[in-house]
Amino acid sequence: VSAHVLDGTAVARAIRDELSARISAFAQRAGRPPALGIVLVGDDPASEIYVRNKMKTGMASGITVDLVRLPKTATLEDALSVVRRLNTSPAHDGILVQSPLPDTMGPDAEAVVFETIDPAKDVDGFSPVNVGRLVQNRAVLHSCTPAGIIELLTRSGVDIAGRRAVVIGRSDIVGKPMAMLLLHRHATVTICHSRTLDLPSVAAEADLLIVAIGRPAFVTRPFVKPGATVVDVGMNRVSDRALVESWFPPESPKRAEYAQKGSVLVGDVHPDVWDVAGALTPVPGGVGPLTIAMVMHNTVVAAEMQAGSTASRA
Ligand code: GUN
Repeated sequence: VSAHVLDGTAVARAIRDELSARISAFAQRAGRPPALGIVLVGDDPASEIYVRNKMKTGMASGITVDLVRLPKTATLEDALSVVRRLNTSPAHDGILVQSPLPDTMGPDAEAVVFETIDPAKDVDGFSPVNVGRLVQNRAVLHSCTPAGIIELLTRSGVDIAGRRAVVIGRSDIVGKPMAMLLLHRHATVTICHSRTLDLPSVAAEADLLIVAIGRPAFVTRPFVKPGATVVDVGMNRVSDRALVESWFPPESPKRAEYAQKGSVLVGDVHPDVWDVAGALTPVPGGVGPLTIAMVMHNTVVAAEMQAGSTASRA
């Protein structure tokens, strides 16, 4: 292991600490804390964990978090009616609909739901209005995972301007907004995906490699230029013993974790990359806490903005 650890947990804590004065000031002025409504449909295990962490962090930060749960049998119209209620609720500044929605809602369900969220309350930055503003580099509410990664890079002293950035993954949640944010910070950006020819060679040109594909240990040494900064957005729970043993040596703490729980959390980046990269985010403790800190940040920004106070501070 030679790569420097990019400590998402520490940066997330700093972001949350910086918010606390704004949260108190808002609560003083408004007579209530900033408030986020989370909509969770169904029982996707990863979503359960994300939502639980968002609620815990919100509450610890002095932000009100209300969870609206719908069963996995809920219809798209059920989800839309919750969103419309939160849109007009004077008690909620932010709205977050956890992705993915159940397949039974149809292929366009997420797009329709995100389009229905009031852009001023859209703490994920997923509404078409906010996506458009992002493309024009005048967004106020940025997608949380990409925004958190930018915070991590800048606060860790990683240069972005002028560097070659490669984003693996083209999702609306991470890949596309990540590429835009890097572009606005003057990186030369390439977006790769499942159809990219000779992906390892393209990735190996990167000074900054951002990986968000949801495939455990997919990015191996040949993908990584020696000394590159690598950000691993993957959060894959793996229970296959043979795979775990092939990735982690017997003395690795991941082996102990596997022995205890029967599964381990593995990023999209293979552990061997620690020997090649200059800096790398751990999983867990890298991108995850940053995403959650940025949800809180965006909730405070949305609250301030709707109160008409400090839109320019965003
Ligand atoms: N599912 C995975 N990541 C996210 C996210 O950042 N926001 C929402 N709403 N759902 C997600």
